[in-house]
Amino acid sequence: MRAIHSIAELRCWRTQARVPLGFVPTMGALHAGHGRLIDEARATCASVAVSIFVNPIQFNASEDYARYPRPLESDLEFCAARGVDMVFAPPLEEMYPQPQNVFVEVGPVADAMEGRFRPGHFRGVATVVLKLFQIVQPDRAYFGEKDAQQLAVIRRMVQDLSVPVEIVRVPTVREPDGLALSSRNRHLSGGERTIAPLLYLALSAAQRSIAAGSRDVEAIKRAALTVFAGDPRVRLEYLEIAGDTDMQPVQSVDGPVRVLAAAWVGGTRLIDNLCATPP
Ligand code: PAF
Repeated sequence: MRAIHSIAELRCWRTQARVPLGFVPTMGALHAGHGRLIDEARATCASVAVSIFVNPIQFNASEDYARYPRPLESDLEFCAARGVDMVFAPPLEEMYPQPQNVFVEVGPVADAMEGRFRPGHFRGVATVVLKLFQIVQPDRAYFGEKDAQQLAVIRRMVQDLSVPVEIVRVPTVREPDGLALSSRNRHLSGGERTIAPLLYLALSAAQRSIAAGSRDVEAIKRAALTVFAGDPRVRLEYLEIAGDTDMQPVQSVDGPVRVLAAAWVGGTRLIDNLCATPP
């Protein structure tokens, strides 16, 4: 496996890479969820590239960019063990040699939920992903369903800007108790870890309510919120029901939808989502 840190070296590597080239963009601190993305790319592409870059322009001022874990050595071992051909791990100056002036302006798909609570986040994500696509020039790129709104933003960007990359959606990987795998889970204390699956349980309650025929979004939300039962250790930021492609919150469930939520468990912000289909 090659580890590459400069764009010039990567462009050289790209000319010799076997095609189709599969690409898994990450911010590192790799776990089994990333492993699933890599496995999926490995199974369907002749070569696999992973990027590891903690992207400052997708963090809000209040978020702790500096606190984001950066275990590069173990991430490289993780990739090598999974049969990755090349890891692109650029330093900050390589990706942003000067202050970024040009950004991808994302539309309404980025307005609600994560977009509301993390202003500018998706602009930063779309910009770095487009930049990485330009550098790596993959045929396919793999994104986890856990970040459903991110996936919708990237799909829309690729369509609207005619980017020649196929976006592949990969299902969320969960712990046995339902907690979605995330690099942030490592920040949970022992006690917080035991209550973190409440987020998944609330989404499951909404999913069951929809499957049972509930259409009224307020009633579905009430069913989901009873799961937290006033537990003060979980601070819900939002729980919304939205269209899977446009990410617009709906008032009534008239077809397949996605139920999405974000909550703080102690000092850690967790997000998760499930799809739900009425009978
Ligand atoms: O999902 C992530 O890890 C990041 O948002 C991404 C897509 C690598 C862009 O920095």
